[in-house]
Amino acid sequence: MKKTILSLSFVVTALCSYAQPQLNANNIDEVLNALTLEEKCHLVLGCGMHFNDDAKFPGTAGSTFSVPRLGIPETYCADSQQGLRMDSKRAWDHNDYYPTDFVASMTLASTWDREAAFKVGKGIGNEVREFGLDWILSPSMNLIRNPLCGRNHEYYSEDPYLSGTIAAGYVNGVQSEGTAACPKHFIANNQETNRNNNISQISQRALREIYLKAFEIMVKESNPWTIMTSYNKLNGPYAVQNHELLTTIVRDEWGWKGMYVSDWNAGDDAVAAMKAGNDMLQPGQDKQFQAILAAAKSGELSMDVLNANVKRILEYVVKTHNFKGYKATNNPNLKAHAQVVREVGADGIVLLKNSGILPLTGKRVALFGCTSYDWISGGSGFGGASIGHYTVSLIEGLRTAGYEVYKPLIATYTKHIADEEKRLFPNGRPQFSLLPPARADERQFTSQELNTAIAGSDVAIISLGRKSGEAADRSEADFYLKEGEKQLIKTVSEAYHAKGKQVVVLLDICSPIDVASWQDQIDALVCTWQGGQESGFSVADVLSGKVNPSGKLPMTFQICYGDAYADKNFPANVDDKTLGAMFMWGYNKDKAPKDRQPQKDIDFTNYEEDIYVGYRYFDSFGKPVAYPFGYGLSYTTFAYENMTCTVDGDVITVKVDVKNTGKKAGRNVVELFVAAPNSKKLNKPEKELRNYAKTRLLKPGQTQSITMTVKTEDLASFNEKASAWKTDAGIYTFMICSSANDIEAQATAKVKAWSKKVNNVMKPNVKLNLLRR
Ligand code: BGC
Repeated sequence: MKKTILSLSFVVTALCSYAQPQLNANNIDEVLNALTLEEKCHLVLGCGMHFNDDAKFPGTAGSTFSVPRLGIPETYCADSQQGLRMDSKRAWDHNDYYPTDFVASMTLASTWDREAAFKVGKGIGNEVREFGLDWILSPSMNLIRNPLCGRNHEYYSEDPYLSGTIAAGYVNGVQSEGTAACPKHFIANNQETNRNNNISQISQRALREIYLKAFEIMVKESNPWTIMTSYNKLNGPYAVQNHELLTTIVRDEWGWKGMYVSDWNAGDDAVAAMKAGNDMLQPGQDKQFQAILAAAKSGELSMDVLNANVKRILEYVVKTHNFKGYKATNNPNLKAHAQVVREVGADGIVLLKNSGILPLTGKRVALFGCTSYDWISGGSGFGGASIGHYTVSLIEGLRTAGYEVYKPLIATYTKHIADEEKRLFPNGRPQFSLLPPARADERQFTSQELNTAIAGSDVAIISLGRKSGEAADRSEADFYLKEGEKQLIKTVSEAYHAKGKQVVVLLDICSPIDVASWQDQIDALVCTWQGGQESGFSVADVLSGKVNPSGKLPMTFQICYGDAYADKNFPANVDDKTLGAMFMWGYNKDKAPKDRQPQKDIDFTNYEEDIYVGYRYFDSFGKPVAYPFGYGLSYTTFAYENMTCTVDGDVITVKVDVKNTGKKAGRNVVELFVAAPNSKKLNKPEKELRNYAKTRLLKPGQTQSITMTVKTEDLASFNEKASAWKTDAGIYTFMICSSANDIEAQATAKVKAWSKKVNNVMKPNVKLNLLRR
């Protein structure tokens, strides 16, 4: 009897799977036809977040719907930028699951090295696969419009070319491992305050030339399998519900064929999102399911649209590891990845000032500043480090490099930090908070304490730290040093200088801060950024000279907050109460007072600086800065020789020989800026970054010939009246630079006119008072 039942069920299963297509890359349309309407409505939604202990991958962001009868498996996604964010421990399982904590994005961008971006992306893509998942929710690549944006550490640069090319390197790396990348947050999510409802109001030109440009370059150079739409609204509708943005521009004009996924709980109209072309809504809500089902039944949502959404989801699914049945090892090559973190972390460090004290020759170092003992490896929020990983401390890094760290200060700071912890968190730290925790005030020292430290050390190192993350922006006050930080720098510098010794400051920061008001007091300034789990080693590699710094700033360091035109329209001083109301999933519209009027920079943000973001503003309007975009020193010097610039049809080729003229081996970044003719009259930036290259390690006296190309179309500006990209004919100046303010060599080329009409879409629905040259 039992046997008969078994064989019967075998026959039924066999018949079913015979009758029902099983998904493969060549039968997607057939599987689409075999799906029920309900299954389609489930497929366009995620399956909740995986925060509970019993989830398959605890601590991860979510998964996609499965339809086993048609061979459609569940696939798994996780954040993010610095690597796979997943709990390292699991209930009922004694094994550890430690993914690598890679470098913060601005560290990566500071390398100006596409290959470094590829290596980091590849490492992350590999860990996603080896731990059994399919899809990493990164790279984050919003433009750095303002130094206070809470997620800047996840972003790359104020320049679209640098952002787009570094993101492309990362995406290519991730996808070279067969893992899906997910560039985000598309688009103009440039502030965290009221991120779920704020309207970014941007001219068509700035959108095309700046904000869309970064994504356009990335899409064309790396073809990501997925893109995440952002929370904010843009010139009216939510980005996730904006057909002109998602379909007209990206699919029709750029030709991108991948799958869009929403940011988690973005938007307010699931049907509108489907119609806009946003294929999947994460993490998925029952009310979204009901709305899509009802709209499909009533005909409000056409089956053609829903089918197109589902088809793109299936096209993603067939590429995934879980679809292909990959057997995860849970054993990626963590050692090799740690080495990538250490190297890229060091290459992303930017040397801003050096009296000659660096590389350090004296072996005895005294570490001041709480951050020296509480090193920050990355930001907070979902884009930050993976959960539970280690960070190599500054002390460990220095000791391993052979330095003697002055011991009495270790004891002093350990007690001070513990006391501050009690003062700041009398009831213990909150269990879960996306907001960066309050940081300790600096301890001050008596002259006797300082004199003893000076006797026991050859040099003082002061570390300053800033941490930020998702859901909240930094305040204007956070741009400046706290009184205690200023006092510490002053007293330590005066005391060390009085004894003929020097002071080095390390900036372990998430975004630019004020350096102009105090840097004259110190001897060397190193922007270490946040370098992931190996950061103590990376910093020591640069301080010791094992690695010659070659990082360049991917954004401007302004002198004061307010210097940049964009600062006029940014929520820099929002009170805590308002911030609290906006926190996490945004301002609850139903609970808002009925007479509430839209507030500037909270409910809407006018991008009045237009295309003049970052150096495009400072350079075009002749405003001084603390450190320009593209700036960074080395322990050696470079000369730029034999520059040529030739035109062949639509391609301009620039060649230059880079020679190491100093005494230490080093790498160098070659920055190619281009100035258009009549730029002021035509309201174009003074010059713009159009390409860059990084040399190999050059020994003293060695030369490398660098070749960079620019196409005529890459020089185009967006003409709103004609709704067209236009390159004006004329003589363009091609400049080899070592920063936006330092031109090393230049040549001119006669460029032919070029133009291309595009759709007249994404108009702001308010009149913006735009800055002009
Ligand atoms: C963030 C995204 C992230 C998502 C899933 C959101 O709050 O904005 O960057 O990928 O959560 O964790």
